[in-house]
Amino acid sequence: MRTGTPWWIRLPLLFFAIWGLMEKFMDTDGRLAILENRGAQFFMLLVLLILISMELILGSIENIMFHTLSEEGKARYLAQKERKWEWTWAKALMAKLTKTRSMEEEKEIIIDHNYDGIQELDNVLPPWWVYLFYGCIVFAVVYLVRFHIVGDYNQVEEYERKMEEARLAVAEYKKTAKDLVDASTVEFLSEASDLAAGKVVFTNNCVICHMADGGGGIGPNLTDDHWILGGDIKDVFNTISEGGRDGKGMVPWKQSLKPVEIAQVASYIMTLVGTEPANPKAPEGDLYEQPATPQGE
Ligand code: HEC
Repeated sequence: MRTGTPWWIRLPLLFFAIWGLMEKFMDTDGRLAILENRGAQFFMLLVLLILISMELILGSIENIMFHTLSEEGKARYLAQKERKWEWTWAKALMAKLTKTRSMEEEKEIIIDHNYDGIQELDNVLPPWWVYLFYGCIVFAVVYLVRFHIVGDYNQVEEYERKMEEARLAVAEYKKTAKDLVDASTVEFLSEASDLAAGKVVFTNNCVICHMADGGGGIGPNLTDDHWILGGDIKDVFNTISEGGRDGKGMVPWKQSLKPVEIAQVASYIMTLVGTEPANPKAPEGDLYEQPATPQGE
């Protein structure tokens, strides 16, 4: 009756199979339901209990059946049980994959040469190796056809897909890590909250020299389209971060302002360009045409 697998293989096998199915059907965003979900834990506990009780019930049925058997039947049944369960198929497979000549047969395959007493056997290649080799050939054919002839899938595509994924991940990361900006990556921040924050930075640090409306005092006029140190957002960021020319009074603000604050105040300054300050200082530096940057609101 109970031939084949013993309980200690059958039970875990069923358990893990059911667990696997459950994980497949429960949508838990790639995390393990059994770790995340109380219901899942309870369900698997129940499964385990049911499996154990099934084994117990099967055992009792077997017991009862045994008592109903004739003497001859009992003897046959016990003999059947005696046969220990073995990995017969695994053993057969192993023997097949590692076929070798026995030591006794070696003289049949010894090769007819002798180097200082060292001789050689003409063994067949180990079957596992040969099958691996055939497998490689099959793989190579499939690869050749898919990648080089049909071209339905190739490394360039794979590379581009991965790069796209990475670009999205970087963009996602940058959203939460605004402080990563520097003069080479800074973009005009058009969010009202960023511009408001930039205005606060400007009011707290910059108005003494540039005036509240950016018209200029000790520092140059920031509202005109002339720039001493460059009028692109990246130049402005760089000026604020690294300071102006030596001895002019514009210090490197990177010591006291965070990169995101510099980006915000730089963006705020860009919104001042084109406004009309009360006492504008005469333009200094070179004319810089803003390439479609948003003007003051
Ligand atoms: C102590 C006075 C002083 C303060 C405070 C000051 N600046 Fe300046 N700023 C200057 C001077 C002077 C220059 C001209 C530098 C030069 O000619 O190299 C300048 C230049 C600049 C420029 C470049 C203008 C151009 O034409 O290229 C920008 C942008 C600027 N400042 C922004 C700021 C910001 C933003 C702050 C506040 C975080 C600030 N400054 C605070 C004095 C100041």
